[in-house]
Amino acid sequence: MSEKHKISVIGVGYVGLCTAVGFATKGYLVVSSDVDPEKVAKIKEGIPPFHEPRLTEMLKAAIQKGKLKCLINQTEAAVLETDVTYIAVGTPSKPDGSIDLQYIEAVSRDIGKALKKSSNYHIVVIKSTVVPGTAQNTVKTILENTSQKKCGEDFGLCVNPEFLRQGSAFEDTFNADRVVIGSFDKKSGDVIEEVYRGFYSPKVPPIIRTGLATAELIKYASNAILATKISFINTIANLCDKIPGADVKLVATAMGLDKRIGPLFLDAGLGYGGSCFPKDVKALIACSKALGYEPRLLESVEEVNHEQPLKAVELCKKLLGGLEGKRIALLGLAFKPNTDDMREARVVPIVCELLREGAIVVAYDPVAVNMAKSLLKDTILYASSVVECLNNADGCIVVTEWDEFRKLTPNDFRKYMKQPVLVDGRRIYDPAEFGKKLKFAAIGLGKGL
Ligand code: UGA
Repeated sequence: MSEKHKISVIGVGYVGLCTAVGFATKGYLVVSSDVDPEKVAKIKEGIPPFHEPRLTEMLKAAIQKGKLKCLINQTEAAVLETDVTYIAVGTPSKPDGSIDLQYIEAVSRDIGKALKKSSNYHIVVIKSTVVPGTAQNTVKTILENTSQKKCGEDFGLCVNPEFLRQGSAFEDTFNADRVVIGSFDKKSGDVIEEVYRGFYSPKVPPIIRTGLATAELIKYASNAILATKISFINTIANLCDKIPGADVKLVATAMGLDKRIGPLFLDAGLGYGGSCFPKDVKALIACSKALGYEPRLLESVEEVNHEQPLKAVELCKKLLGGLEGKRIALLGLAFKPNTDDMREARVVPIVCELLREGAIVVAYDPVAVNMAKSLLKDTILYASSVVECLNNADGCIVVTEWDEFRKLTPNDFRKYMKQPVLVDGRRIYDPAEFGKKLKFAAIGLGKGL
Protein backbone atom coordinates (compact mmCIF):
# COMPACT_ATOMS: atom_id res chain seq x y z
CA MET A 1 0.00 0.00 0.00
CA SER A 2 1.09 3.56 -0.67
CA GLU A 3 2.33 5.67 2.22
CA LYS A 4 -0.88 7.70 2.39
CA HIS A 5 -3.79 5.37 1.80
CA LYS A 6 -6.45 6.20 -0.73
CA ILE A 7 -9.77 6.34 1.04
CA SER A 8 -13.33 5.87 -0.16
CA VAL A 9 -16.32 7.00 1.88
CA ILE A 10 -19.70 5.56 1.03
CA GLY A 11 -22.56 7.80 2.10
CA VAL A 12 -21.99 11.53 2.42
CA GLY A 13 -24.54 12.40 5.07
CA TYR A 14 -23.33 14.27 8.08
CA VAL A 15 -20.79 11.71 9.31
CA GLY A 16 -19.60 10.64 5.85
CA LEU A 17 -19.04 14.14 4.51
CA CYS A 18 -17.25 15.34 7.65
CA THR A 19 -15.06 12.20 7.57
CA ALA A 20 -14.32 12.63 3.85
CA VAL A 21 -13.50 16.33 4.21
CA GLY A 22 -11.41 15.63 7.33
CA PHE A 23 -9.22 13.09 5.48
CA ALA A 24 -9.00 15.28 2.34
CA THR A 25 -7.92 18.26 4.46
CA LYS A 26 -5.11 16.14 5.89
CA GLY A 27 -3.90 15.40 2.36
CA TYR A 28 -5.48 11.99 1.73
CA LEU A 29 -7.06 11.30 -1.65
CA VAL A 30 -10.73 10.65 -0.96
CA VAL A 31 -13.33 9.24 -3.33
CA SER A 32 -16.87 9.41 -1.99
CA SER A 33 -20.13 8.09 -3.35
CA ASP A 34 -23.78 8.65 -2.46
CA VAL A 35 -27.09 7.53 -3.92
CA ASP A 36 -28.59 11.05 -3.76
CA PRO A 37 -27.73 12.91 -7.02
CA GLU A 38 -28.82 16.31 -5.68
CA LYS A 39 -26.54 15.99 -2.66
CA VAL A 40 -23.61 14.96 -4.87
CA ALA A 41 -24.23 17.86 -7.27
CA LYS A 42 -24.09 20.33 -4.37
CA ILE A 43 -20.95 18.79 -2.90
CA LYS A 44 -19.20 18.90 -6.27
CA GLU A 45 -19.88 22.64 -6.37
CA GLY A 46 -18.45 22.96 -2.88
CA ILE A 47 -21.85 23.59 -1.28
CA PRO A 48 -22.46 21.52 1.90
CA PRO A 49 -25.98 20.05 2.05
CA PHE A 50 -26.22 21.01 5.76
CA HIS A 51 -24.95 23.71 8.07
CA GLU A 52 -21.69 22.96 9.88
CA PRO A 53 -19.13 25.57 10.97
CA ARG A 54 -15.90 25.49 8.84
CA LEU A 55 -17.34 22.91 6.44
CA THR A 56 -17.90 25.27 3.49
CA GLU A 57 -14.30 26.51 3.26
CA MET A 58 -12.80 23.09 3.95
CA LEU A 59 -15.02 21.39 1.37
CA LYS A 60 -14.21 24.02 -1.27
CA ALA A 61 -10.48 23.73 -0.58
CA ALA A 62 -10.59 19.91 -0.75
CA ILE A 63 -12.36 19.97 -4.12
CA GLN A 64 -10.13 22.70 -5.57
CA LYS A 65 -6.99 20.80 -4.55
CA GLY A 66 -8.38 17.67 -6.22
CA LYS A 67 -8.30 15.77 -2.92
CA LEU A 68 -12.02 14.98 -2.82
CA LYS A 69 -14.16 13.42 -5.53
CA CYS A 70 -17.85 12.73 -5.14
CA LEU A 71 -19.61 10.15 -7.33
CA ILE A 72 -23.30 9.37 -7.81
CA ASN A 73 -24.10 5.86 -6.65
CA GLN A 74 -20.79 4.35 -7.75
CA THR A 75 -19.70 2.39 -4.71
CA GLU A 76 -17.87 -0.20 -6.80
CA ALA A 77 -15.83 2.42 -8.66
CA ALA A 78 -14.99 4.23 -5.41
CA VAL A 79 -13.83 0.98 -3.78
CA LEU A 80 -11.73 -0.05 -6.77
CA GLU A 81 -9.93 3.31 -6.85
CA THR A 82 -8.93 3.11 -3.18
CA ASP A 83 -7.53 0.77 -0.54
CA VAL A 84 -9.61 1.62 2.52
CA THR A 85 -13.42 2.02 2.37
CA TYR A 86 -15.45 3.69 5.09
CA ILE A 87 -19.14 2.80 5.32
CA ALA A 88 -20.98 5.90 6.53
CA VAL A 89 -24.58 5.33 5.47
CA GLY A 90 -27.50 5.96 7.80
CA THR A 91 -28.93 3.43 10.25
CA PRO A 92 -32.40 4.89 10.90
CA SER A 93 -34.80 3.67 13.57
CA LYS A 94 -37.53 1.15 12.80
CA PRO A 95 -40.89 1.64 14.57
CA ASP A 96 -39.80 -0.77 17.35
CA GLY A 97 -36.61 1.24 18.01
CA SER A 98 -34.23 -1.28 16.45
CA ILE A 99 -32.02 -0.07 13.62
CA ASP A 100 -32.83 -0.51 9.96
CA LEU A 101 -29.83 -2.14 8.28
CA GLN A 102 -31.06 -1.95 4.68
CA TYR A 103 -28.52 0.73 3.63
CA ILE A 104 -25.66 -1.06 5.37
CA GLU A 105 -26.67 -4.29 3.60
CA ALA A 106 -26.99 -2.66 0.17
CA VAL A 107 -23.59 -0.96 0.47
CA SER A 108 -21.97 -4.16 1.76
CA ARG A 109 -23.23 -5.99 -1.35
CA ASP A 110 -21.78 -3.30 -3.66
CA ILE A 111 -18.46 -3.34 -1.80
CA GLY A 112 -18.45 -7.15 -2.03
CA LYS A 113 -18.92 -6.95 -5.82
CA ALA A 114 -15.94 -4.62 -6.06
CA LEU A 115 -13.82 -6.85 -3.81
CA LYS A 116 -14.57 -9.76 -6.14
CA LYS A 117 -12.95 -7.83 -9.01
CA SER A 118 -10.01 -6.55 -6.99
CA SER A 119 -6.76 -8.39 -6.47
CA ASN A 120 -5.54 -6.08 -3.65
CA TYR A 121 -5.98 -6.51 0.09
CA HIS A 122 -8.74 -3.99 0.89
CA ILE A 123 -10.00 -2.82 4.26
CA VAL A 124 -13.67 -2.11 4.97
CA VAL A 125 -14.30 0.17 7.95
CA ILE A 126 -17.75 0.65 9.46
CA LYS A 127 -18.18 4.24 10.61
CA SER A 128 -21.99 4.07 10.78
CA THR A 129 -23.44 3.46 14.23
CA VAL A 130 -24.44 -0.22 14.31
CA VAL A 131 -25.54 -2.45 17.18
CA PRO A 132 -23.16 -5.13 18.49
CA GLY A 133 -23.01 -8.10 16.17
CA THR A 134 -23.77 -6.18 12.95
CA ALA A 135 -20.21 -6.16 11.61
CA GLN A 136 -19.67 -9.84 12.31
CA ASN A 137 -23.10 -11.21 11.41
CA THR A 138 -24.33 -8.89 8.67
CA VAL A 139 -21.47 -7.00 7.01
CA LYS A 140 -18.84 -9.76 7.09
CA THR A 141 -21.33 -12.37 5.84
CA ILE A 142 -22.51 -10.20 2.92
CA LEU A 143 -18.95 -9.16 1.99
CA GLU A 144 -17.77 -12.79 1.98
CA ASN A 145 -20.79 -14.13 0.09
CA THR A 146 -20.71 -11.42 -2.56
CA SER A 147 -16.94 -11.31 -3.07
CA GLN A 148 -16.36 -15.05 -2.69
CA LYS A 149 -13.35 -14.03 -0.62
CA LYS A 150 -12.35 -14.56 2.97
CA CYS A 151 -12.44 -11.86 5.64
CA GLY A 152 -9.13 -11.61 7.47
CA GLU A 153 -7.22 -13.04 4.51
CA ASP A 154 -8.32 -11.35 1.27
CA PHE A 155 -9.83 -8.29 2.89
CA GLY A 156 -10.00 -6.78 6.38
CA LEU A 157 -12.93 -5.53 8.44
CA CYS A 158 -12.94 -2.87 11.18
CA VAL A 159 -15.44 -0.90 13.24
CA ASN A 160 -14.35 2.68 13.89
CA PRO A 161 -17.16 4.67 15.53
CA GLU A 162 -17.30 8.44 15.32
CA PHE A 163 -17.80 10.69 18.32
CA LEU A 164 -18.15 14.04 16.60
CA ARG A 165 -20.81 16.52 17.61
CA GLN A 166 -22.82 18.48 15.11
CA GLY A 167 -21.77 22.11 15.25
CA SER A 168 -18.21 21.20 16.30
CA ALA A 169 -17.51 18.34 13.92
CA PHE A 170 -14.05 19.51 12.83
CA GLU A 171 -12.91 20.55 16.25
CA ASP A 172 -13.84 17.01 17.35
CA THR A 173 -12.34 15.38 14.24
CA PHE A 174 -8.94 17.06 14.61
CA ASN A 175 -8.83 16.92 18.42
CA ALA A 176 -10.37 13.55 19.24
CA ASP A 177 -10.49 12.38 22.87
CA ARG A 178 -9.85 8.82 21.65
CA VAL A 179 -9.90 6.65 18.56
CA VAL A 180 -11.64 3.29 18.80
CA ILE A 181 -10.63 0.59 16.35
CA GLY A 182 -12.41 -2.73 16.54
CA SER A 183 -10.99 -5.23 14.10
CA PHE A 184 -11.85 -8.71 12.87
CA ASP A 185 -8.24 -9.40 11.97
CA LYS A 186 -5.10 -7.92 13.53
CA LYS A 187 -3.70 -6.85 10.17
CA SER A 188 -6.60 -4.55 9.26
CA GLY A 189 -6.62 -3.05 12.77
CA ASP A 190 -2.87 -2.35 12.46
CA VAL A 191 -3.37 -0.58 9.11
CA ILE A 192 -6.21 1.60 10.41
CA GLU A 193 -4.19 2.40 13.54
CA GLU A 194 -1.35 3.49 11.28
CA VAL A 195 -3.78 5.68 9.30
CA TYR A 196 -4.84 7.48 12.48
CA ARG A 197 -1.29 7.77 13.81
CA GLY A 198 -0.47 9.59 10.55
CA PHE A 199 -3.67 11.64 10.64
CA TYR A 200 -3.09 12.94 14.17
CA SER A 201 0.70 13.12 14.16
CA PRO A 202 2.38 14.47 16.26
CA LYS A 203 -0.46 14.68 18.86
CA VAL A 204 -1.96 11.20 18.65
CA PRO A 205 -4.95 10.64 20.97
CA PRO A 206 -5.29 7.35 22.88
CA ILE A 207 -6.06 4.55 20.44
CA ILE A 208 -8.22 1.76 21.83
CA ARG A 209 -7.99 -1.57 20.00
CA THR A 210 -10.86 -4.01 20.46
CA GLY A 211 -12.85 -6.70 18.71
CA LEU A 212 -15.75 -5.74 16.44
CA ALA A 213 -18.62 -6.04 18.94
CA THR A 214 -16.86 -4.12 21.72
CA ALA A 215 -16.20 -1.20 19.37
CA GLU A 216 -19.84 -1.24 18.31
CA LEU A 217 -20.94 -1.17 21.95
CA ILE A 218 -18.48 1.61 22.93
CA LYS A 219 -20.34 3.98 20.61
CA TYR A 220 -23.76 3.18 22.09
CA ALA A 221 -22.49 3.17 25.67
CA SER A 222 -20.86 6.59 25.15
CA ASN A 223 -24.03 8.17 23.79
CA ALA A 224 -26.19 6.42 26.39
CA ILE A 225 -24.16 7.74 29.37
CA LEU A 226 -24.38 11.29 27.97
CA ALA A 227 -28.14 10.92 27.47
CA THR A 228 -28.36 9.53 31.02
CA LYS A 229 -26.52 12.57 32.42
CA ILE A 230 -29.02 14.84 30.65
CA SER A 231 -32.08 12.95 31.89
CA PHE A 232 -30.53 12.79 35.35
CA ILE A 233 -30.01 16.55 35.61
CA ASN A 234 -33.47 17.16 34.14
CA THR A 235 -34.88 14.93 36.90
CA ILE A 236 -33.09 17.10 39.47
CA ALA A 237 -34.38 20.20 37.61
CA ASN A 238 -37.95 18.97 37.87
CA LEU A 239 -37.40 18.37 41.57
CA CYS A 240 -36.00 21.91 41.93
CA ASP A 241 -39.20 23.23 40.32
CA LYS A 242 -41.09 21.88 43.33
CA ILE A 243 -38.68 23.34 45.91
CA PRO A 244 -38.98 27.12 46.32
CA GLY A 245 -35.53 28.72 46.13
CA ALA A 246 -33.77 25.70 44.63
CA ASP A 247 -31.77 26.22 41.42
CA VAL A 248 -30.57 23.30 39.29
CA LYS A 249 -27.85 25.41 37.72
CA LEU A 250 -26.06 25.82 41.03
CA VAL A 251 -26.66 22.17 41.87
CA ALA A 252 -25.01 21.17 38.56
CA THR A 253 -22.09 23.58 39.02
CA ALA A 254 -21.32 22.20 42.46
CA MET A 255 -21.77 18.59 41.34
CA GLY A 256 -19.54 19.16 38.32
CA LEU A 257 -16.61 20.25 40.48
CA ASP A 258 -16.39 16.70 41.77
CA LYS A 259 -13.80 15.13 39.47
CA ARG A 260 -15.69 11.86 39.50
CA ILE A 261 -18.77 13.59 38.06
CA GLY A 262 -17.36 16.34 35.81
CA PRO A 263 -19.16 19.49 34.62
CA LEU A 264 -20.18 18.49 31.09
CA PHE A 265 -23.63 17.35 29.95
CA LEU A 266 -25.24 18.58 33.14
CA ASP A 267 -27.14 21.43 31.49
CA ALA A 268 -30.78 21.05 32.43
CA GLY A 269 -33.23 22.11 29.77
CA LEU A 270 -35.72 20.66 27.34
CA GLY A 271 -33.96 17.31 26.92
CA TYR A 272 -31.83 15.83 24.19
CA GLY A 273 -32.72 15.79 20.51
CA GLY A 274 -30.83 15.31 17.26
CA SER A 275 -30.20 12.33 15.06
CA CYS A 276 -28.11 10.38 17.56
CA PHE A 277 -29.11 10.26 21.23
CA PRO A 278 -32.82 9.50 20.75
CA LYS A 279 -32.10 6.89 18.06
CA ASP A 280 -29.15 5.31 19.83
CA VAL A 281 -30.84 5.01 23.24
CA LYS A 282 -33.83 3.38 21.51
CA ALA A 283 -31.56 1.02 19.57
CA LEU A 284 -29.63 0.01 22.69
CA ILE A 285 -32.92 -0.71 24.48
CA ALA A 286 -34.14 -2.81 21.52
CA CYS A 287 -30.81 -4.62 21.27
CA SER A 288 -30.79 -5.39 25.03
CA LYS A 289 -34.33 -6.70 24.92
CA ALA A 290 -33.58 -8.86 21.90
CA LEU A 291 -30.76 -10.38 23.96
CA GLY A 292 -33.14 -11.04 26.85
CA TYR A 293 -32.04 -8.19 29.14
CA GLU A 294 -34.51 -5.52 30.34
CA PRO A 295 -32.51 -2.23 30.38
CA ARG A 296 -34.65 -0.36 32.96
CA LEU A 297 -32.23 2.54 33.42
CA LEU A 298 -32.24 3.33 29.68
CA GLU A 299 -36.02 3.10 29.52
CA SER A 300 -36.27 5.71 32.28
CA VAL A 301 -33.74 7.95 30.50
CA GLU A 302 -36.00 7.91 27.47
CA GLU A 303 -39.18 8.48 29.44
CA VAL A 304 -37.75 11.54 31.24
CA ASN A 305 -36.58 12.94 27.91
CA HIS A 306 -39.98 12.41 26.32
CA GLU A 307 -41.74 14.49 28.97
CA GLN A 308 -39.11 17.21 29.37
CA PRO A 309 -40.07 19.65 26.57
CA LEU A 310 -43.59 19.89 27.93
CA LYS A 311 -42.23 21.41 31.16
CA ALA A 312 -41.58 24.66 29.30
CA VAL A 313 -45.17 24.80 28.04
CA GLU A 314 -46.43 24.04 31.57
CA LEU A 315 -44.39 26.94 33.00
CA CYS A 316 -45.60 29.31 30.27
CA LYS A 317 -49.20 28.30 30.88
CA LYS A 318 -48.84 28.90 34.61
CA LEU A 319 -47.32 32.37 34.09
CA LEU A 320 -50.05 33.37 31.62
CA GLY A 321 -52.93 31.64 33.38
CA GLY A 322 -53.86 29.77 30.16
CA LEU A 323 -52.67 29.62 26.56
CA GLU A 324 -55.91 29.83 24.55
CA GLY A 325 -55.57 32.58 21.92
CA LYS A 326 -52.17 33.67 23.31
CA ARG A 327 -49.34 34.52 20.90
CA ILE A 328 -46.26 32.54 21.97
CA ALA A 329 -42.84 33.39 20.57
CA LEU A 330 -40.33 30.55 20.31
CA LEU A 331 -36.66 31.50 20.17
CA GLY A 332 -34.86 28.65 18.41
CA LEU A 333 -35.97 25.72 16.28
CA ALA A 334 -32.83 23.59 15.70
CA PHE A 335 -32.18 20.71 18.12
CA LYS A 336 -29.13 22.60 19.38
CA PRO A 337 -27.13 25.72 18.39
CA ASN A 338 -24.81 25.91 15.37
CA THR A 339 -26.82 23.49 13.27
CA ASP A 340 -29.93 23.62 11.10
CA ASP A 341 -30.76 20.01 11.98
CA MET A 342 -34.36 19.58 13.07
CA ARG A 343 -34.27 15.84 13.70
CA GLU A 344 -35.97 15.05 17.03
CA ALA A 345 -35.81 18.79 17.79
CA ARG A 346 -37.43 19.59 21.12
CA VAL A 347 -39.45 22.32 19.48
CA VAL A 348 -41.74 19.80 17.77
CA PRO A 349 -43.49 18.48 20.92
CA ILE A 350 -43.53 22.06 22.26
CA VAL A 351 -45.34 23.30 19.15
CA CYS A 352 -47.81 20.39 19.27
CA GLU A 353 -48.64 21.10 22.91
CA LEU A 354 -48.98 24.86 22.40
CA LEU A 355 -51.30 24.33 19.43
CA ARG A 356 -53.32 21.79 21.41
CA GLU A 357 -53.75 24.45 24.09
CA GLY A 358 -55.03 26.89 21.45
CA ALA A 359 -51.98 29.19 21.27
CA ILE A 360 -50.74 31.01 18.15
CA VAL A 361 -47.08 30.15 17.67
CA VAL A 362 -44.40 32.28 16.02
CA ALA A 363 -40.80 31.10 15.85
CA TYR A 364 -37.37 32.38 14.89
CA ASP A 365 -34.06 30.57 14.38
CA PRO A 366 -30.85 32.00 12.87
CA VAL A 367 -30.40 29.08 10.42
CA ALA A 368 -33.07 26.39 10.81
CA VAL A 369 -36.21 28.18 9.53
CA ASN A 370 -36.16 26.49 6.12
CA MET A 371 -35.62 23.04 7.62
CA ALA A 372 -38.39 23.74 10.13
CA LYS A 373 -40.81 24.82 7.40
CA SER A 374 -40.55 21.45 5.70
CA LEU A 375 -41.39 19.76 9.01
CA LEU A 376 -43.86 22.06 10.77
CA LYS A 377 -45.35 23.47 7.54
CA ASP A 378 -47.80 26.32 8.12
CA THR A 379 -48.92 25.17 11.58
CA ILE A 380 -46.87 28.06 12.99
CA LEU A 381 -45.71 31.51 11.86
CA TYR A 382 -42.04 32.13 11.04
CA ALA A 383 -40.23 35.34 11.93
CA SER A 384 -37.08 36.56 10.24
CA SER A 385 -35.59 38.21 13.34
CA VAL A 386 -35.79 38.12 17.13
CA VAL A 387 -37.60 41.45 17.12
CA GLU A 388 -40.23 40.25 14.63
CA CYS A 389 -40.68 37.09 16.70
CA LEU A 390 -41.14 38.90 20.02
CA ASN A 391 -43.32 41.62 18.56
CA ASN A 392 -46.73 41.66 20.24
CA ALA A 393 -46.20 38.24 21.85
CA ASP A 394 -47.91 37.29 25.12
CA GLY A 395 -45.20 34.84 26.09
CA CYS A 396 -41.78 33.66 24.95
CA ILE A 397 -39.97 30.33 25.37
CA VAL A 398 -36.23 29.96 24.71
CA VAL A 399 -35.96 26.61 22.93
CA THR A 400 -32.39 26.64 21.52
CA GLU A 401 -29.48 28.41 23.23
CA TRP A 402 -28.06 30.32 20.22
CA ASP A 403 -25.49 33.00 21.16
CA GLU A 404 -27.76 35.61 19.57
CA PHE A 405 -30.37 34.93 22.27
CA ARG A 406 -27.86 34.98 25.11
CA LYS A 407 -27.17 38.64 24.32
CA LEU A 408 -30.79 39.74 24.85
CA THR A 409 -31.54 41.88 27.90
CA PRO A 410 -34.77 42.07 29.94
CA ASN A 411 -35.50 45.37 28.21
CA ASP A 412 -35.48 43.71 24.78
CA PHE A 413 -38.36 41.50 25.92
CA ARG A 414 -40.20 44.40 27.59
CA LYS A 415 -39.82 46.61 24.55
CA TYR A 416 -41.40 44.30 21.96
CA MET A 417 -43.73 41.89 23.77
CA LYS A 418 -47.35 42.57 24.66
CA GLN A 419 -46.69 40.97 28.05
CA PRO A 420 -43.12 40.41 29.32
CA VAL A 421 -43.56 36.71 30.07
CA LEU A 422 -40.41 34.65 29.51
CA VAL A 423 -39.64 30.96 30.02
CA ASP A 424 -35.95 30.14 29.81
CA GLY A 425 -35.98 26.56 28.55
CA ARG A 426 -32.17 26.41 28.30
CA ARG A 427 -31.06 28.31 31.39
CA ILE A 428 -29.18 31.04 29.50
CA TYR A 429 -30.37 34.03 31.55
CA ASP A 430 -29.52 35.17 35.06
CA PRO A 431 -32.70 34.67 37.09
CA ALA A 432 -31.78 37.50 39.47
CA GLU A 433 -31.57 40.03 36.63
CA PHE A 434 -34.43 38.74 34.45
CA GLY A 435 -36.71 37.90 37.37
CA LYS A 436 -36.70 41.53 38.52
CA LYS A 437 -37.97 43.01 35.27
CA LEU A 438 -40.02 40.22 33.69
CA LYS A 439 -42.56 37.57 34.58
CA PHE A 440 -39.81 34.98 34.41
CA ALA A 441 -39.62 31.21 34.85
CA ALA A 442 -36.89 28.74 33.96
CA ILE A 443 -36.39 25.00 33.91
CA GLY A 444 -35.14 23.87 37.31
CA LEU A 445 -35.67 27.20 39.06
CA GLY A 446 -37.84 26.58 42.09
CA LYS A 447 -40.40 29.35 41.99
CA GLY A 448 -43.16 27.35 43.64
CA LEU A 449 -45.36 28.06 40.59
C1 UGA B 1 -23.82 13.30 19.98
C2 UGA B 1 -22.52 12.99 20.78
O1 UGA B 1 -22.21 14.09 21.65
C3 UGA B 1 -21.36 12.73 19.82
O2 UGA B 1 -20.22 12.36 20.56
C4 UGA B 1 -21.74 11.60 18.87
O3 UGA B 1 -20.73 11.36 17.92
C5 UGA B 1 -23.01 11.97 18.12
O4 UGA B 1 -24.06 12.23 19.07
C6 UGA B 1 -23.37 10.82 17.21
O5 UGA B 1 -23.74 9.76 17.71
O6 UGA B 1 -23.19 10.94 15.99
P1 UGA B 1 -24.82 15.49 18.79
O7 UGA B 1 -26.06 14.68 18.59
O8 UGA B 1 -24.26 16.28 17.67
O9 UGA B 1 -23.61 14.51 19.27
O10 UGA B 1 -25.14 16.51 19.94
P2 UGA B 1 -24.75 16.82 21.45
O11 UGA B 1 -23.94 18.05 21.50
O12 UGA B 1 -24.22 15.63 22.13
O13 UGA B 1 -26.20 17.16 22.04
C7 UGA B 1 -27.28 16.25 21.95
C8 UGA B 1 -28.51 16.83 22.62
O14 UGA B 1 -28.33 16.90 24.03
C9 UGA B 1 -28.88 18.24 22.18
O15 UGA B 1 -30.28 18.30 21.97
C10 UGA B 1 -28.47 19.11 23.35
O16 UGA B 1 -29.26 20.28 23.45
C11 UGA B 1 -28.74 18.18 24.52
N1 UGA B 1 -27.93 18.49 25.72
C12 UGA B 1 -26.57 18.37 25.70
C13 UGA B 1 -28.58 18.86 26.88
O17 UGA B 1 -29.83 18.97 26.94
N2 UGA B 1 -27.83 19.13 28.01
C14 UGA B 1 -26.48 19.01 28.01
O18 UGA B 1 -25.86 19.24 29.07
C15 UGA B 1 -25.84 18.63 26.82
